[in-house]
Parts: sequence; C-alpha cells; structure tokens
Amino acid sequence: MAAAAGLALLALLAAAGAERGRKVSMEYNPGWNSSSVNLLHVRAVGPEDSLHYVWSSIGAPSVLLVATRSPSSALRVNWTQLLSPSPAGAVWIDPPDSVVYSSAVVFTKLFEFSEAKPLGELFYPTYDLSEFSWDSLNHTLNHTALTAELRGVPATDPGGAFANGSLAFRVTAYEAGGRAGPLPSLLHTADSSQLEFILAGVLPRGNGSRFLLQLAAVEPAGAARRLRARSSIDDEYTPSVFQELSLVAEAPNSSCPLSFLQWKAAAYGSPSPRREDGIQCRAGGLQVANGSLPGASLLQAFFGDSLGSTCTVSVLNVSFGGEEGHVYQERRYLSWAVLLGFGEPPRDTFSPLVISITAVALGTPLAMLLLGSCLVLLAQRRRYSEYEPIN
Ligand SMILES: *[C@@H]1O[C@H](CO)[C@@H](O)[C@H](O)[C@H]1NC(C)=O
Ligand SMILES: *[C@@H]1O[C@H](CO)[C@@H](O)[C@H](O)[C@H]1NC(C)=O
Ligand SMILES: *[C@@H]1O[C@H](CO)[C@@H](O)[C@H](O)[C@H]1NC(C)=O
Ligand SMILES: *[C@@H]1O[C@H](CO)[C@@H](O)[C@H](O)[C@H]1NC(C)=O
Repeated sequence: MAAAAGLALLALLAAAGAERGRKVSMEYNPGWNSSSVNLLHVRAVGPEDSLHYVWSSIGAPSVLLVATRSPSSALRVNWTQLLSPSPAGAVWIDPPDSVVYSSAVVFTKLFEFSEAKPLGELFYPTYDLSEFSWDSLNHTLNHTALTAELRGVPATDPGGAFANGSLAFRVTAYEAGGRAGPLPSLLHTADSSQLEFILAGVLPRGNGSRFLLQLAAVEPAGAARRLRARSSIDDEYTPSVFQELSLVAEAPNSSCPLSFLQWKAAAYGSPSPRREDGIQCRAGGLQVANGSLPGASLLQAFFGDSLGSTCTVSVLNVSFGGEEGHVYQERRYLSWAVLLGFGEPPRDTFSPLVISITAVALGTPLAMLLLGSCLVLLAQRRRYSEYEPIN
C-alpha cells in the first residue's frame, strides 16, 4: 500500500534527519497582521525532507506535526477561514502530496481535585483550556534559542485563582540531538521538540489539591497510540526518577513508531529544578474517544470536519503529585516537560562503544571496576522493579 511505503520512507527520513541535524526557523502568525491570536510555525528542514510543527491557541492549545518528503514544503493558512466558525480546510501543506505523515496533540482540560477522606476524590470545577484567553506569543519568541511561550488565564475566573498566576506552554525546538540542561534533562533529537507545561502562582482551591492535565492525540485512520512504560537507567541526569513513559503512534500491523510523546515520571516544583523539587507524575489509562473534539479548531482546520470519524482520537490523563500533593501548595509552581517528535523516541543506554572507549582511555582495570558497579546498580534496580517472591 502507498501508505505503508510512505511510512517506511518516513522512518528512513527520520533516521537520516536525526543523524545530520536540521535547519530550524520559527514564524509567528504567517500572513496575518494581528497578534489577537497565536499560531507559531516551526519548520525543521533536513537535506531531503522537512518537518512542520504548528502550535496554536486557536481553540484549545494544540500542535500539529507534519512530516514531508520535500525540503521546500510550505505551510499555508487561509486566515479568514481559520478564524471563522467553520475552519475545516483552512490549514494545509503545499504541495499536499509531499506529506508522508501527520498527527496532532491537543491539551483539552485541567482538572483539580483533593482527597476527601471518607469519600475519595473531590473534584473542583474543571478548567477548560479552550476557554482561556492567551497572551500574544510574539514577544516571547526567541529565534536564536528557538523558544516561545504561550501563556494564558481562564477567560472568566470568578474565584480569582488565577489572579496572580497563569498556565503556560513553553516550546523549544532543536536543530541537533542533545540533552536539555535543567531537570528532567530530556534527551532529544533534531526530529523532536520539547514542551513544558507550567502552572505558576495559581491558587489551589483545596488543601493540598492536585492537578491533572488531559490531552488528546489525533492520528489519521489506521495508526493508533500506545502507552509504553520503561524503567530507565538511574543516570546522573534525572536522579531518583526511574520511569520513562511514551505515548507512541504506531502504523497498522507494525510496532515501528511514527511519532511520540515522551516524558519522565516527574514534574518539578521550582523554575530551577533540583532533585528534591520532584513531584510525582502518573499517567492514567489511555482511552480511545469517539466523535468530535470540541474546541480543537486548529485540528479541524487541518484534518477537516470528519476529524471524529476518520481519525483515531486517544485521550490520556497525566496527574501531578502523589502523597506529596503539598509540594504545589507550598511552592505554587509546577512544571512538566515532554518531548514530542517523529519516529523512534530517543533512548538512554550504556553503549558498548562508550564502555570500550572508557576502557582504552582509563585503562582496563578501572573500566572493569566501572562496568562492575554498573552491573551491581542494574541488579539492584531489578530488585526494585520486579516483584520477587520472598521464600
Ligand atoms: C479563504 O476561505 C474563504 C472562505 O472559505 C474563501 O472565500 C476564500 O476564497 C479563501 N481564500 C483563498 C485565498 O483561498
Ligand atoms: C497577589 O499578589 C499580591 C502582591 O504580591 C498580593 O498582595 C495579593 O494578595 C496576591 N493575591 C492573591 C489572590 O494571591
Ligand atoms: C490542611 O492540611 C494540613 C495537613 O494535613 C492540616 O494541618 C490543616 O489543618 C489543613 N487545613 C485546612 C484549612 O483544612
Ligand atoms: C481523565 O480524568 C477525568 C477526571 O477524573 C475523567 O472524567 C476522565 O474519564 C479521565 N479520562 C481518562 C482517559 O482517563
């Protein structure tokens, strides 16, 4: 099938792009002379392909991910149509047949709840992210660092919880592989971008209440999302965080990932996070949703009116704070970083190459000692990660 060939090509392109790096450019509201709405186009060009990320706050905050087989493919927006009540078809890629794969993620809701002792969980009124008002992203755009920030507050806030606070999505694009500096120091490739969800200064409505972010991933017919959890090596980069989760999109009859979201099971309660600022982060079960996605205007503009019937919509809840629900109460700050990208998510490994280089550089005895301690560490990790019956 043509789709299968296209997807195989995507895997090849993604692998090539990850090796060679990309030229990234960012453009705010292309072709529109107003800052009343936000649309950020991130174009990452490789030698034989280009990747497009379209971030927007039109409707609920969302991002479109489009991979094309042409280095010169371009984003087109019909603004009058996009801002109209029927945006279907207002956003497309030119030439249309250069598109090999497209996907999208939309952040729909923020829930807040607290433990009501005998009754279980008490939920406060939900923050619907499609009913937020967003600042202009233009003044946060940094073309050198390749970052931008979308910040907003609820359009109506009767309780005043957001009087001194805001919710933000901070985007970082990458031209080459590497690792982010601040914790959780996510590993990235040139085929990915990082998104940080930040809740700052928002007054909790309960004593030690916790937050839960709901997102939906949209795939064209056939492909489906799967949640993978993996115990990661307890490396120096994210001490004390052992779990790495990814929400991967897979083609039918294949476990080869087309795109992914990947994160560590930790959020942080500080703008300059240290290990002790960690807030536990849990993912709920993945649900396939039927029907439309209310408020997802950008997705409708790209995928069309039949979004609900022709695409697969998977909904995931990510909650922050376990027993340490008080961390947000004290700090009034929460940040959660997630990597979004194409192809296979990057993985932390002890590479045999690194071990052999170490052996040559430091002398074999020391390397053997290091290798030995790694094995001990791994053995210890296994003790905690597997349930072994005690005889
Ligand atoms: C944009 O969309 C509107 C409404 O659908 C249409 O009338 C107009 O011709 C379109 N403009 C372009 C340049 O395609
Ligand atoms: C907002 O901040 C100001 C100044 O820091 C403070 O006086 C006020 O009480 C705060 N309001 C809320 C709702 O936290
Ligand atoms: C909030 O929780 C703390 C710790 O559980 C408790 O000491 C305090 O009395 C509670 N405050 C209110 C207003 O319920
Ligand atoms: C997410 O959490 C909300 C609130 O608890 C719940 O109504 C919804 O069913 C959950 N969705 C998933 C996919 O777990």
